[in-house]
Amino acid sequence: MKLTILGGGGFRVPLVYGALLGDHAEGRVTHVTLFDLDAGRLSAIERVLGEQGEGVPDAPVVRATNDLDEALRGADFVFSAIRVGGLAGRAADERIALAEGVLGQETVGAGGIAYGLRTLPVVTHIAHRIAELAPDAWVINFTNPAGMVTEAMSRILGDRVIGICDSPVGLGRRVARVLGARPDEAWIDYVGLNHLGWLRGLKVGGHDVLPRLFEDDALLGSFEEGRLFGTEWLRSLGAIPNEYLHYYYFNREAVRAYREAEMTRGAYLLDQQAGFYEEMGKPDTPPLATWHRVLADREATYMAHNREAAGVGERDEEDLESGGYEKVALALMRAIARNERATLILNVRNRRTLSVLDADAVIEVPCLVDAAGAHPVSVDPLPYHAVGLVTAVKAVEREALAAAESGSRATAVKAFALHPLVDSVAVARRLLDGYTAEHAGLAYLRR
Ligand code: G6P
Ligand code: MN
Repeated sequence: MKLTILGGGGFRVPLVYGALLGDHAEGRVTHVTLFDLDAGRLSAIERVLGEQGEGVPDAPVVRATNDLDEALRGADFVFSAIRVGGLAGRAADERIALAEGVLGQETVGAGGIAYGLRTLPVVTHIAHRIAELAPDAWVINFTNPAGMVTEAMSRILGDRVIGICDSPVGLGRRVARVLGARPDEAWIDYVGLNHLGWLRGLKVGGHDVLPRLFEDDALLGSFEEGRLFGTEWLRSLGAIPNEYLHYYYFNREAVRAYREAEMTRGAYLLDQQAGFYEEMGKPDTPPLATWHRVLADREATYMAHNREAAGVGERDEEDLESGGYEKVALALMRAIARNERATLILNVRNRRTLSVLDADAVIEVPCLVDAAGAHPVSVDPLPYHAVGLVTAVKAVEREALAAAESGSRATAVKAFALHPLVDSVAVARRLLDGYTAEHAGLAYLRR
C-alpha cells in the first residue's frame, strides 16, 4: 500500500508516521512518499521519521520528492496537508482581519476566507493531477479550511476525497470521558460544517447519556468546552458546540483578546517553527526529542487567547496529547483498504443528510466507512439557530469557490461580506484590498 503525503515537510507528519508504525496488519502502508516544495523542511522531517522508524523491522519505506506528478503516480492513498502561503500567510490572514476589528483566525471568519481563496486554486490543480495520475486513489484532505477545500476537490474527485478534522473526535472523547463512557463504544451525534458543528447526543448501548451531563453542573463545567462556553450557555443550547464556535458565541471577547495579544497564533507558530526547522538543520540536534518538545509547546498554547478571554486556565492534561488527526486518518484508511467497517466523523458530500443543504455541500457528519468509501448516516435536523449559521457559512464558501473559479473581485467581496463575523460590506471591500496587497497568491482575483 502506497501513501503519498502532500505537505510532507509539515510539522505534524511524524504523528502520521508514528501511527503507521503501529500498524502491522496485512494491507498496511509499506511505502510513504513525502512531497513538499521546501527541501529544508523535507529533510528535517525525514530525519524525525528516520529516528521514529529505528528498530521497527516493517517500518514503511520513506522517500521524498519535490515533483508533484512523481509523488502522485501509483499512490493508493493521498493525504493532502499543505499550507498555501505557509505560516507567514496565516499570520497575515489573522493580522489584516484584526486590524479591521474583525476576527483573524486560521479557518473562521475573514482569515479563513482569505486562506481559502489562496488555497482553492492550488488544491483544484492538485485534484486534477490526482484524477489523471492516480484516479483510483483515495484522497484524505487535512488541508484547511477543510470543509471548503474538500468541497472544491470533490467537484473533481467526487466521493474519493474525504476531509478530516480532529476537533469532533476530541470533543466526543472529552464528553465520553466525563460521562465515564468509553469513547470507542459511544455513538456521537455530531453534525454541522467543519469547525462549525454541535454534539447533540452520546449514545452508549443505544441509550443517550448526554442528558446526564446537563443535569450535573459540576460535570458540565469540568471539561474544555464547559469552561470555554460556560454551563449556562451550554444548557441554553442543549448541545455542546465545537470549540471553534467560541469565535461566534463570544466573538467580541475573542476578537479583543486576539487584538490585545502580543502575537497572533500564526505569528507565534511562524517563530516557533522557524526555530524548529533551523535547529533541525544542525547535525547534532536530536530529531525526535526536539520535535516532541516543540509539539508539546504547540499543544499547550492552542487557543490560549480564547481560554484567557473566557477566564479559564490551562488545558487538561489529557487534551495535551495531540488531537488525533493521525488516528482518524489511519482508521479511515484501514476501513477503506480492508473493508473494516468503522464509524467516523468526516467531511463528505451531504447527499440528503441535512435537508437545508444541497446534495453536493460538504458537511461534517458521522459516516459509516467501508471499502466503498464514507457514507453519511442520517441525523436529526439542526435547530434553526444552527441552520442559520450553517447555511450562512456554506453560502460564504460557495462565493469563495465561485471567486476562485472566475477570478471575480465582486464575488470575493461577497464571500467576505456575507460572513456572519464580518459586519459591513465596506469592511469586506477593505479586507479584500488588504489581502490582495499582501498575498501574491491572490493576484488571480483581477476581474
Ligand atoms: C485543530 C484543528 C485544525 C487546526 C489546528 C490548529 O487541530 O482541528 O484544523 O489546523 O487545530 O492548531 P495550531 O496549533 O496550528 O494553531
Ligand atoms: Mn480541524
